Amino acid sequence: MTETASISLHTLRFADRAEGYHPSPVREVFEVSMQPNMISLAGGNPDLAGLPLERIADMAHSLISERGLEALQYGSGAGTPELQALVCEVMALEGIEADPENVQITSGSQMGLELITKLFCNPGDVILAEGPSYVGALGTFEGLQAEVVQVPMDEEGLVPGQLRAAIASLKAAGKTIKFLYTIPNFNNPAGTSLAVGRRQEIVDIARAEGIAIVEDNPYGLLSFDGSYKAALHTLDPENVIYLGSFSKIFSPGLRVGWVLAPAEVRKRLQLAAEATTICPSVLSQMLVESYISGFDWRQHVRDACRTYASRCQATLDALAEYMPAGTTWTRPTGGFFTWITLPEGISTEALLQPAIDSGVVFVPGSAFFAHAAGENQFRVAFSFESEESLREGIRRLGAAMATLA
Ligand SMILES: Cc1ncc(COP(=O)(O)O)c(C=O)c1O
Repeated sequence: MTETASISLHTLRFADRAEGYHPSPVREVFEVSMQPNMISLAGGNPDLAGLPLERIADMAHSLISERGLEALQYGSGAGTPELQALVCEVMALEGIEADPENVQITSGSQMGLELITKLFCNPGDVILAEGPSYVGALGTFEGLQAEVVQVPMDEEGLVPGQLRAAIASLKAAGKTIKFLYTIPNFNNPAGTSLAVGRRQEIVDIARAEGIAIVEDNPYGLLSFDGSYKAALHTLDPENVIYLGSFSKIFSPGLRVGWVLAPAEVRKRLQLAAEATTICPSVLSQMLVESYISGFDWRQHVRDACRTYASRCQATLDALAEYMPAGTTWTRPTGGFFTWITLPEGISTEALLQPAIDSGVVFVPGSAFFAHAAGENQFRVAFSFESEESLREGIRRLGAAMATLA
């Protein structure tokens, strides 16, 4: 053994919290999805084929040649003032009135989730979330040693009565609940949206119980019929921290998202963000600014939504044709995902390898729960593959299922 290796063995002692980070089931299947001829129903990748690449290349060229000394320099920890203002215009589409000073730009909303959890949660504090919920958020919460308690949903989203019951039993057990994490629009992974009639009730429950709400809304603008639901933030701006992202409506590769929070929280977010990244990428922010202010991005979103709606329909049709009797699924009206419940007794974890062997990959339902659940469920992302591939993927899945018994 070399001296260096023996030193590392004796000195590299992980902190307790390192135990909380597990491989993300979605990232794990990412490599598999890259294999040739593999049909991926796994990742929530936006379809980028409709992006005006030449225009974006011109924008990037102008940025570097005309404003390179700014674009390639460190910038403000809060984000560029221009992007903070543009983000407010984007949020206004969903009825949010925001002051640019309350916007913290992040490297994707995933970073926002981590900053919020760091600022609010001590180890053992409870975060309420929908069951099922976004696997990346669950990973962050667990990594920072929060306890996740998931509240059942139905076709209309989070169930207010179940939320009340969960809060009551946690309080009776002496737990500290820090916030409710919710994805009210085109939920990842459920594909469902919180009914308009439930929104005020959920906001009222949280306020009455002294619990903040973290509203994660990367899919809100991806509505198939172009209608938007009022954000929870509009109902209680002081108690709802809102997360947005350009990942699903423009580009995940640029890593630009944001948090809208009350002034005091926004300042703390900046301090925590600076400790991690010093400042968000100025070049990425400026490219997003050029795209949003110099291109009809809303038309691009409308076009992309037409593609997603057709792919969603192709997926639902294929499910009807190839899934076993007794299977149910959600009927999304936007976003990237549908959530499938197979008859009891079929394990989607056991299905994964046979499915991969037959050339299709998906994420099993258990990934979307912090505690054992979702065994006979799985998520299908219809955002990325063509209608033909979605249909073929679900056919392969049905065939793999038939070999399980
Ligand atoms: C619900 C939800 N929140 C946050 C994220 C992270 O997005 P970003 O690329 O902005 O970090 C995702 C990505 O899939 C998501 O589905």
